[in-house]
Amino acid sequence: MKRWLYGLKGKQLSLTLVAMACTTILIWAWEKTPLLTTLLPPQSLLSIPSSEILMGTPLVSATSSNSDVYVKEDLSYAEPNKETITEHGEQSFSVVAPTNMNSPEKSKNDSNPTRPSFEKKEILPNALREGLTLKPGLEEKDGSEQVKNVEVVATMVHKINTSSVKGKDDGSSGTLVEEKAPCNYARGRWVVDNKRPLYSGFGCKRWLSEMWACRLTQRTDFSYESFRWQPENCEMPNFEESKFLRRMQDKTVAFVGDSLGRQQFQSLMCMVTGGKDRPDVIDVGKEYGLVKARHATRPEGWAYRFQSTNTTILYYWSASLCDLEPLNIKDPATDYAMHLDRPAAFLRRYLHRFDVLVLNTGHHWNRGKLRANRWIMHVGGVPNTNGKLATIGSAKNFTIYSVVKWLDLQLPKHPQLRSFFRTISPRHFFNGEWDSGGSCENTTPLAGGKEVLQEKSSDTVAEGAVKGTNVKLLDITALSKLRDEGHISKYSIKATPGVQDCLHWCLPGIPDTWNEILFAQL
Ligand SMILES: *[C@@H]1O[C@H](CO)[C@@H](O)[C@H](O)[C@H]1NC(C)=O
Ligand SMILES: *[C@@H]1O[C@H](CO)[C@@H](O)[C@H](O)[C@H]1NC(C)=O
Ligand SMILES: *[C@@H]1O[C@H](CO)[C@@H](O)[C@H](O)[C@H]1NC(C)=O
Ligand SMILES: *[C@@H]1O[C@H](CO)[C@@H](O)[C@H](O)[C@H]1NC(C)=O
Repeated sequence: MKRWLYGLKGKQLSLTLVAMACTTILIWAWEKTPLLTTLLPPQSLLSIPSSEILMGTPLVSATSSNSDVYVKEDLSYAEPNKETITEHGEQSFSVVAPTNMNSPEKSKNDSNPTRPSFEKKEILPNALREGLTLKPGLEEKDGSEQVKNVEVVATMVHKINTSSVKGKDDGSSGTLVEEKAPCNYARGRWVVDNKRPLYSGFGCKRWLSEMWACRLTQRTDFSYESFRWQPENCEMPNFEESKFLRRMQDKTVAFVGDSLGRQQFQSLMCMVTGGKDRPDVIDVGKEYGLVKARHATRPEGWAYRFQSTNTTILYYWSASLCDLEPLNIKDPATDYAMHLDRPAAFLRRYLHRFDVLVLNTGHHWNRGKLRANRWIMHVGGVPNTNGKLATIGSAKNFTIYSVVKWLDLQLPKHPQLRSFFRTISPRHFFNGEWDSGGSCENTTPLAGGKEVLQEKSSDTVAEGAVKGTNVKLLDITALSKLRDEGHISKYSIKATPGVQDCLHWCLPGIPDTWNEILFAQL
């Protein structure tokens, strides 16, 4: 009888809890809806799980006609983009002059066993709610350290409600926060590491484009290859091929973005293979519709599978992340609707198959590129008439926010998916632009400093867009900004006299670090 009563109470309790959860969701949804519909009318397109609606429809924007657009990407890689520069590239960030990198203080912190990870971050709020007790032996030692970590949690993990975190200040479970504290990988310093680079630039011919393999060019200085990024307060695991593959067993890692995203993809392929050809890595592009169209010079992307662990790594070219739709399918010279509020069809179609997704965009947002690609901005399915979005900067901002919001809304349906938005890769054209003698000929590493101290990202648009969502920021802007010597510079294989590539990076090189930071967060 007693047991029965307890059982009923338990059930009632569960029912009450369920009812409360439902109410919360309802209220939340109610609050969200009017905002979406009034501010962003086309948002309805985004918030509707478009993958379901569009699953069956053909991949219009990814048909052969688009390959033409693709080709233009690299030919005009470095068109001036003043709006991007003012918005991103030249953002101020703190840089300090090189100091003794082996200070004992640092090495002590470096050996800090804090090992933050994605899962831990996700677990934290639940753990707090359920009132998990502390692991014995992890009692707080340093109060100030805790407060600092609490701040980091509060600012970096938007998921965590500040008020619940504040509860940690009483010290009762402060070490829980300390143990799970996420760190900011974007803060830190470059250090010389004789184990770099992670693969040889003479190898990796199967995955590394010749145009980015600086070892195969006239370039003679390679000191840019010998640095490793050391985040300030996070442990940075050594990148190991076998460890990566084991963790990515039966998983798919997808990069979607512009040519800088392609660089990151090639870099990862080289890192995971050690730059060696691996016969057990097979081309599975077909599974993702990534096949070369008849008149195209290359496919829209590439997909490779490591058969040993059933790990797939792929890249899809989507320079703006927008859905591109030919306005007249029959006309080979057609204009394209560039749907600012609709993510690339490839994303909608294959999202359910990804376990890790890294998005990026940025350098194609300028008038020259839009015109050259014949992209016409559309919002809500019709040509844009919103004056506020007329400037390229706002259109880009709108798109990045839209894509991130769409992705965030998809995440509950794809619990396996960890999604990242990579911040903009900085350009380094000095004394001019790409077409007016701009150059990046410095070969002295870290001449402008080796440390990033700022807490905030230099890419305010990307940072703002992911805020409050479960899409993570892969923040590489400020740390890459310190590496002006790592670009292709004048060593482009298609070199035009006087034209330098101060946008793309030599590989091996800086994008390898982006992947190490990505791996650290997986
Ligand atoms: C650890 O790093 C913090 C700043 O990140 C610094 O204030 C502190 O002094 C360092 N502690 C040790 C023991 O190195
Ligand atoms: C945390 O929750 C409280 C109510 O429980 C709310 O008032 C507050 O705005 C929330 N804070 C954040 C940062 O979500
Ligand atoms: C490979 O992984 C996928 C999931 O990504 C799974 O559906 C498939 O069955 C796996 N194949 C093998 C041979 O294990
Ligand atoms: C970008 O869009 C967001 C959301 O609409 C807005 O809050 C923000 O002010 C915009 N930023 C810029 C620089 O336009």
